[in-house]
Amino acid sequence: MPRYTSYPPANYFAELGEADFKNAVLESNEQKDSNLSFYIHFPYCPRLCHYCACNSYAMPQTENVERYIDALHKEIDMILPLLNSERKISQIHYGGGTPTSMPLDAIKELNQHLLSAFKTIERPEIAIECHPGYLDENGWQTLADAGFTRMSLGIQDFNADVLKTVNRKPSLIPINEVFKILRQRNIKINLDFLYGLPLQTPESFYNTISQAVALAPDRLVTFSYAHVPWIKKAQLILEKAGLPAPENKEKMFDNAAQLLEKEGYVRIGMDHFVKSEDELFEALQNHRLHRNFQGYCTRRTTAQVYAFGVTGISQLTAAYAQNTKVIDEYISEVFSGKIPVRKGYKLDKNQQLVREVIESLMCNYYVDFKEIAERLNVETDFLKSVTTYNIDILKNMQDDGILELNENSIKITAEGSPFVRNVAASLDPLMKNTTKSFSKPI
Ligand SMILES: C[S@@+](CC[C@H](N)C(=O)[O-])C[C@H]1O[C@@H](n2cnc3c(N)ncnc32)[C@H](O)[C@@H]1O
Ligand code: SF4
Repeated sequence: MPRYTSYPPANYFAELGEADFKNAVLESNEQKDSNLSFYIHFPYCPRLCHYCACNSYAMPQTENVERYIDALHKEIDMILPLLNSERKISQIHYGGGTPTSMPLDAIKELNQHLLSAFKTIERPEIAIECHPGYLDENGWQTLADAGFTRMSLGIQDFNADVLKTVNRKPSLIPINEVFKILRQRNIKINLDFLYGLPLQTPESFYNTISQAVALAPDRLVTFSYAHVPWIKKAQLILEKAGLPAPENKEKMFDNAAQLLEKEGYVRIGMDHFVKSEDELFEALQNHRLHRNFQGYCTRRTTAQVYAFGVTGISQLTAAYAQNTKVIDEYISEVFSGKIPVRKGYKLDKNQQLVREVIESLMCNYYVDFKEIAERLNVETDFLKSVTTYNIDILKNMQDDGILELNENSIKITAEGSPFVRNVAASLDPLMKNTTKSFSKPI
């Protein structure tokens, strides 16, 4: 079953050449979502955590890091001239790897490179994934000076023994000090946690989340540890250290969710928790939550995404495009003036409509065909007809308690939420006679 983190899912991507990508970028100027979202990927980390399932590599020598950063600027210089300069930036996001292990003035220069080329919307979201293990007070202040409006801190667990077992450095300065610095600078704070690691118990994880709640972050994510040792060999070390039993892992999440809800956080999707005044919650209530590969966003910040760096995926209205996953190839191609794109997918008009339906269902657990049709200037029946809307299948799902069906809307019930992907698949024309294989839910 596809995860539907994008529509179509990434395993539908096929070869995409540089000329096709350039055309897609030029065409994107004429398409809806005129806002610009930029994603910058930095693949290196100072130390690799044994659990990590991301595309991360050990930090190379300084000159290679500098070369990678130069390549990022060169790639940006190849794409920016293709974009209409009247468009506005609504988001910039740095991910990795560990983007905060770049020299901090290099991050500031990258922001300036992008921000000097376009105006921004009011209150754009300029966000970065931060590893607190390597930032001192000066480091946090320098990052704040670079113009960020939101920082995600990878905590994973507050228990020092858990972090040691997974080869992760704890925060260099106490987290409450970090909060003080960032709060003074009006920066929103997200905290990332991971459950299902060795030494974690339902009680210890509850303790970690209690400490988090006391800090009052704006958003908090509890990732379920994905154990994929056939892809990530280092995870075998965690098997040796002893992974918690599945029922304990489930309890860790349930206890954490209960505590967060008691403390006034509301749940968005599977694992995100936000304060009730957060714009994501308001968007969820109005069924207007969106998602891209960088995370959730609202209609205010949503945009077409242009990605820079190795593995980066651009998400345009009518196309996806992914860069090479090989760092050396990325650098050498960019230095020879070539856009390092490899694969992608072009969406026709009907697929763009299906994407709206599936995205709404996946983010909001709700789809209103009439509202989407009106917004996109098509007939409601036509919108239904480009999906594989089948009233009998949907009625069966309703009888099973998975959803509530109205003439023009589908609402997933609380009991039905684990089956949201099945409902999405029932509306997806690509799932008809598919021979593709998809990951199992983790
Ligand atoms: C790119 S990292 C965040 C930035 C920085 N590298 C750090 O670790 O603080 C993104 C997030 O992926 C999550 N993650 C990594 N490996 C995972 C796994 N095997 N299963 C689930 N989540 C994972 C971690 O919680 C991490 O915070
Ligand atoms: S979790 Fe973050 S710091 Fe650790 S290896 Fe993965 S990307 Fe690097």
